[in-house]
Amino acid sequence: MKKGLFISFEGIEGCGKTTQAKRLFKYLVTQGYKCILTQEPGGTGISKKIREILLDKENKKLTPIAELFLYLADRAQHTEEVVLPALKSNKIVITDRSVDSTIAYQGGGREISMETIKTLNQFVTKGITPNITILLDIEPEKGLARIKNKDRMELEKIKFYKKVRKVYLDIANKEPKRVKIINGNLKIEEIELGIRKFIQKQLLK
Ligand code: TMP
Repeated sequence: MKKGLFISFEGIEGCGKTTQAKRLFKYLVTQGYKCILTQEPGGTGISKKIREILLDKENKKLTPIAELFLYLADRAQHTEEVVLPALKSNKIVITDRSVDSTIAYQGGGREISMETIKTLNQFVTKGITPNITILLDIEPEKGLARIKNKDRMELEKIKFYKKVRKVYLDIANKEPKRVKIINGNLKIEEIELGIRKFIQKQLLK
């Protein structure tokens, strides 16, 4: 059994990743693995406050660079307080979003330099980034139709999410060993089984 595995779930709004991260967590716990389920932004007490600022619809004036640094501040805090200690004690860490979100949303969506973002991601995580990433892929129109009360990040035009999705797919194509693309249009149970199979293989490696 592999120890200290770091798994992230990624995808655009309404792709179903939060549901699937929870299901995988429950499954791994029943299989006897020491496991934690966490999220970005919002995985620590301080991060929850940062998340509030980021998702507050009233914060229309937030600039793309300020937004980027808030996501990075959240990640720095989350890495130190949650991810590193869990990996050090050989737990499996499942996180609902991580570094790829910043590349896709701030790099793809907001068109901030990808190279700068990659460097900053390395800096705030000290290089502790996911070994495995599950990308739930769905058309933005379908994903957004699933959202009821939209937050600040969910009020962009469709074009924004199309750019985000494209970057996610580019990352997956460049790193097929790390990133597993799963069709978010499938039934919840089918997706769950697909993820389980993939993770089980990784755990046996
Ligand atoms: P969530 O609703 O999946 O928790 O994510 C919150 C929003 O934050 C979602 O719209 C994606 C966005 N986001 C970024 O733009 N950059 C990031 O680095 C992260 C982690 C999330």
